[in-house]
Amino acid sequence: MDRIRIRGGNRLNGEIPISGAKNAALPLMAASLLTDQKLTLLNAPWLADVGFMGELLRSFGVETSYSRGPAHGEGGRWELTARHITNTTAEYELVRKMRASFLMLGPLLARHGQAKVSLPGGCAIGARPVDLHLKAMQVLGAEIVLEEGYVIAQAPSGLKGASIEFPFVSVGATENALMAAALANGETTLVNAAREPEIMDLGHCLMAMGAQIRGLGTSTIVIDGVDRLRGTVHAVLPDRIETGTYAMAAAICGGDIELTHTSIELIGALVPLLEGTGTTVTTTGLGVAASRNGERLKSIDVQTEPYPGFPTDLQAQFMALMTTAEGISHIKETIFENRFMHVPELSRMGADIQVQGDTATVRGVEKLTGAPVMATDLRASVSLVLAGLAAEGETVISRVYHLDRGFECLEEKLSAVGAQIERLTE
Ligand code: EPZ
Repeated sequence: MDRIRIRGGNRLNGEIPISGAKNAALPLMAASLLTDQKLTLLNAPWLADVGFMGELLRSFGVETSYSRGPAHGEGGRWELTARHITNTTAEYELVRKMRASFLMLGPLLARHGQAKVSLPGGCAIGARPVDLHLKAMQVLGAEIVLEEGYVIAQAPSGLKGASIEFPFVSVGATENALMAAALANGETTLVNAAREPEIMDLGHCLMAMGAQIRGLGTSTIVIDGVDRLRGTVHAVLPDRIETGTYAMAAAICGGDIELTHTSIELIGALVPLLEGTGTTVTTTGLGVAASRNGERLKSIDVQTEPYPGFPTDLQAQFMALMTTAEGISHIKETIFENRFMHVPELSRMGADIQVQGDTATVRGVEKLTGAPVMATDLRASVSLVLAGLAAEGETVISRVYHLDRGFECLEEKLSAVGAQIERLTE
């Protein structure tokens, strides 16, 4: 298995292109099932999870082709045509590798009237049940049976529009319901819907395909079902988690980085926090500039929340940032019940972190020291990269397949701004 070796201590200066968002590309790819015409996605990142999604779609009979972009930051091009769906079963072997496979449920039910999707099973960061997804399909008229670890869903006479009230915000359940409702008979209202930019991106693509949707970006979305959807060409929105991660790389290392092909609005909740640490974040003609020179970072508290709050997918990175800040930072994780697995690994590098329930207390230390550490999940692994970039000495991160799921060309992007980072291929 590949490892990544980092020699820390360099300031970072230069330009990093931001790729298309993983968490937008995955539901957008699932949406190809909703039409028999070609869906073309531009600015698509080349990531392990996106590759898995392509494999899964091919197993349903979707014709797929992917061509990588001309240069980093231009993004690749997917062409997906679900002319005939020849299979409606998402096998456990594929779903267990990537939970987002569960986003097949809504589109398959809506287009084909049936779906057999493996329950995703556990995940490192939490139990991550799918009860809200199943409830939403039932409210739209689907019959759901659980059998041998699979969800078997039927809607032989099609889905019927209805009002779906989510007891709490779920990104995936909102996406499954949005795609299913697009082809349901009648009007559907999603109450307490997720408002993430990735939901808006999916909604805009569905509207370009002919879907009738109102209220995107608010917590109440209304969809008037249509008989069929057409193909379209849609550019995947920039990755706000990658944007925030590299902005924090500038903050933790010191230096000046310009993030291109992205926008400051995508990291709205992070900007005031970074300013509070003494890092400046500004809009430029090409995207966003993040810089910190001189002054030591200052500690600041943060709590994760659904959008537009501070994203849980940036929590591990922010914790790495706070490990060498001046003062004490309280980091509260409200979305997942087990998303502090980066704590013991950061502690191996000399961080002083105490976890009490859903809150981690980080007492800033002068500096971290490089060490061999292990990635445990996608965002925890990149927090170790950030810590390694700032640490004194050498850090070697194992199990970097976690990283490859969500960060395109990470070593190249960081090397280009002066980081000493390389991949050790075993
Ligand atoms: C999406 O996961 C993202 N994944 C996650 O990013 C992200 O952390 C999460 O949203 C929150 O923003 C993709 O978009 C592919 P949820 P999702 O449903 O949809 C509970 C990354 O690193 N819940 O909003 O699975 C759930 O357990 C990944 O890129 C239920 O209880 O998240 C969690 O505690 C990690 N029942 C909370 O709700 C359900 O039916 C929020 O989950 C659904 C969710």
